[in-house]
Amino acid sequence: MNFLPLIEAKREGKTLASEQIQEFIREFAARKIPDYQMAAMLMAIYFRGLDSAETTALTLAMRDSGDVLKFPKDKRPLVDKHSTGGIGDKVSLPLAPLLACLGFRVPMISGRGLGITGGTLDKLDSIPGFKTLLPAEKIVAQVQEIGCVICGQTDRMVPADKKIYALRDASGTVPSIPLITASILSKKLVENLDALVLDVKFGCAAFMQTKADARKLAKAMVMLGNKCGVNTCAILTDMNTPLGRAGGNWLEAKEGVALLDCRTGGTPVLRCDDLRSLVLGCAAHLLVQTRKSKSLATAHKQAEDCLNSGAPRKKWDEMLVAQGTDLKAFNQKLALDSTASVVVELKAEKSGFVSKCDARLIGEVIRDLGGGRLTKESAINYDVGVDQIAKPGERVEKSATLCRIHAADKAQAEAASARLETTFEISAKPPGKPPLVAEVIR
Ligand code: URA
Repeated sequence: MNFLPLIEAKREGKTLASEQIQEFIREFAARKIPDYQMAAMLMAIYFRGLDSAETTALTLAMRDSGDVLKFPKDKRPLVDKHSTGGIGDKVSLPLAPLLACLGFRVPMISGRGLGITGGTLDKLDSIPGFKTLLPAEKIVAQVQEIGCVICGQTDRMVPADKKIYALRDASGTVPSIPLITASILSKKLVENLDALVLDVKFGCAAFMQTKADARKLAKAMVMLGNKCGVNTCAILTDMNTPLGRAGGNWLEAKEGVALLDCRTGGTPVLRCDDLRSLVLGCAAHLLVQTRKSKSLATAHKQAEDCLNSGAPRKKWDEMLVAQGTDLKAFNQKLALDSTASVVVELKAEKSGFVSKCDARLIGEVIRDLGGGRLTKESAINYDVGVDQIAKPGERVEKSATLCRIHAADKAQAEAASARLETTFEISAKPPGKPPLVAEVIR
């Protein structure tokens, strides 16, 4: 194929035909187009954009560059959730078994974290024996049998996205709404879903920092998802404060299980109202989208009753065993207060109300403790992180714990503690509390 005229056409702001897009993705995946030419095309797209038909063609061509999951006919709808990533976002862990118990099939194909955002697979890798790399046949079989799986993409799924994402990363073309939309949705479309809920974060620790940008991305993804036959809705959620009270891979896995365990609440240390409400909210949207519930209020109650029944906790164990975990080892690890070498507490210097808890700073500290990756190749320390985070609006007394730092050694714990002092602000009056879910886009 002569790719140059297509690059020139996009450079001049012209519209590409669907067949042209399909062909160049096919040729690129077959290594017949060099990286430097694809990087030039990506830059042209970055500046000129893609219209809805072009974005659809790109998304479908990327989906079809590899294997697509094929499920037998079944009355249980296929559903999933995608989050654009944030600090403390472990929603997927309790959500998958909850959805399975609500009568869905959940082929949740997740990713790893980079920089300050954690990845679901990294959290799962902190669970003894848990396997995240499964062949397509095993993914389908597990979903059919127990209702849910959380695993990584196989090498044969969406290979075009893997290669294009690496080029975008190296060519400054990541922040392009059509490219992000195609990248995220091509991976979700591989799952052959009936319905999808997208959690698009905004705020200081989010990929899209402003609500306006998050809304633009959410609208593009909702439109495309629906056009491709998946009932898609998006929620815009606040990522200025960490979600839940823990950040760091094992601490988050533990908090996800605590949510499944503590049912209607639990001790103050374990209570994570925002996490619980987001898990239930995602489930409720999917119940309505698939017409298993008539209204969001009914759906919310249905999801809450299911969570409170304890069935999703049992389903979680079932999923763990199906994916290689030794439950005894897992429960022993769960019983430990910490698996890190050192734990220190950050104390409040005065009494008052927590008025700020900066998610970006907490994310950076966790990454620098070894809990996140600076590059794709970085090794992770699963045991480090921050927990018992005091959340905005909460009353704290002088010397109360604002958070605990789990570190590999004393020096790192002290350095993290010094940095975290500026994370929290305490005011005399309770602060106004922005809603966690700012908007729903259907
Ligand atoms: N996540 C993805 O999978 N792709 C993007 O382009 C951005 C975030």
